[in-house]
Amino acid sequence: MKTKKRIGIAMLFTGMLILFFSCETNVEEDIIIDDMMGMEEEPCAPSFTNDIEPIIANNCLSCHSGTQFPDLRTYQGVSSNAGIVKTQVVNRTMPIGGSLTNNEIDLISCWVDNGAPNN
Ligand code: HEC
Repeated sequence: MKTKKRIGIAMLFTGMLILFFSCETNVEEDIIIDDMMGMEEEPCAPSFTNDIEPIIANNCLSCHSGTQFPDLRTYQGVSSNAGIVKTQVVNRTMPIGGSLTNNEIDLISCWVDNGAPNN
């Protein structure tokens, strides 16, 4: 009787250990998955006024101020052409005669992906 009880307790203990470690493993996996997602896509929320407009003003308006399509002088002009603006800067076709930093390209790309908000 006594031996059976001991074995019972030992098994219970082992069971708890296994449970404990399997929980720990799950937690670690969650953290790793979170990290990987963080590396793929960092949350970004560029502002049109603070981030996008200055980049456009410094790099695009010398040409896109009315005569050259698209007219990028206003929020309306930029947002209504957001898709092609993103394409042109991401593939570095624009700006002609200049270049944007990777960060500037990321900001424009991110702003367009967010739906080109007037923020
Ligand atoms: C030196 C002049 C110049 C500058 C600076 C310039 N562009 Fe352009 N852009 C042009 C010309 C010219 C075209 C007409 C298409 C062509 O000839 O490649 C054009 C076309 C475009 C188009 C239309 C493409 C299409 O699909 O019809 C977009 C969008 C554009 N530019 C965005 C930009 C953005 C954004 C910037 C700034 C980051 C910029 N451009 C800077 C001269 C310029």
